[in-house]
Amino acid sequence: MFQQLTRLSPDSILGLMSKFRADTCTNKVDLGVGVFRDLAGNTPVLDCVRRAESAVLAAQTTKSYVGAPGREEFNSHVESLVLGANHSVRRDRRARTVQTPGGCGALRVGAELLRAAAPATTVHVSDPTWGNHIPLLGSSGLALARYPYYDAPAHMLRFDAMLEHIEQAPPGDVILIHGCCHNPTGADLSLAQWETLAQVLEKRGLIPFMDLAYQGFGAGLEADAAGIRVVAERVPEALIAVSFSKNLGLYRERVGALISIGDSEERAGAMSSHMLQIARSIYSMPPDHGAAIAAHIFADAALTRDWIAELEAMRTRLADMRNLLADELRMQTGDKSFDFIRTQRGMFSLLGVSGAAVERLREQHHIYMLGDSRMNVAGIMPHNAALVAAAIAGTIALECAA
Ligand SMILES: Cc1ncc(COP(=O)(O)O)c(C=O)c1O
Repeated sequence: MFQQLTRLSPDSILGLMSKFRADTCTNKVDLGVGVFRDLAGNTPVLDCVRRAESAVLAAQTTKSYVGAPGREEFNSHVESLVLGANHSVRRDRRARTVQTPGGCGALRVGAELLRAAAPATTVHVSDPTWGNHIPLLGSSGLALARYPYYDAPAHMLRFDAMLEHIEQAPPGDVILIHGCCHNPTGADLSLAQWETLAQVLEKRGLIPFMDLAYQGFGAGLEADAAGIRVVAERVPEALIAVSFSKNLGLYRERVGALISIGDSEERAGAMSSHMLQIARSIYSMPPDHGAAIAAHIFADAALTRDWIAELEAMRTRLADMRNLLADELRMQTGDKSFDFIRTQRGMFSLLGVSGAAVERLREQHHIYMLGDSRMNVAGIMPHNAALVAAAIAGTIALECAA
């Protein structure tokens, strides 16, 4: 049976992680893996999560099955966090939400729903996009295309080129849009650009599939969902994949949700029935523990307040490290060419150096980032920022001289 299978090359992020672990240099810096880190370099369990987890365990009386939609109270809280309590799609009962195993689960269920509805549709993803979008959407059999998104040499969003591409997509095609904190570029649409995009999507009859994995990491919980809310207000149909891996620090518990929006209450119900059938056919039902913790936090005003404060501390740390690294790079290079790091949002930015420079940073300076020069600013600390900036400036000077 398996004679024809040959060994696949290891996942590039996992490969980078094992190189980092094997590096014995005490000053090594990990800008590779996509997790938040605090000032001690840890990816902490949030205090609100610890407290909610104790309460959940104390109150738990059964481990019986939860069912394909997961926890209804979790799903309802997720809708109001993402869409706002009074969004018109909720008032019109056009939104349906199922709990999924993380944002990845939501993306995969969404892809299968699209395939069930329109197998010939094409999903357009941003160029560049998060590497896992390709297998998650592509393995459902849907055709993929790319829309221009980012001008890497200029470190800028290519909004006009993006719109031009989208204007030409045939009606019924799907546009995958990062809700906030674009991975890997950190370059987000302004609210005015979201409004323009929403108009084009509506006019062209395109279906937005929005991926919200960093709500609260960019400008705050409400502001980070503003673009999604604008689009959902305008278009008749949409999908939203939500992840709580980062903003609740629940990575390994696999907490996410897929929100589907239909053009009527009736259609929303039909979409929901398909989502449940898809969930049944892939993983049957989502894991409960993380969603039980999240639901407990969302239902408790004091815990929610504490969560928002902890989330704000994570967001501020990222913004502070962006400023610090940009300041250090200004000092080291004598110019402002890295100021884009300051204004971009979330955990990631593309440094914009060659693969050879990425390798040199790793081999000579023990600084680890992805091959496309994606760096996670959560790996920057007050004690290593100057060192990282000096290494980057030195590497770039060498590149220019060559
Ligand atoms: C853009 C984007 N979408 C979705 C996810 C899904 O995350 P998870 O499945 O861990 O919840 C991630 C995680 O890194 C991401 O970066």
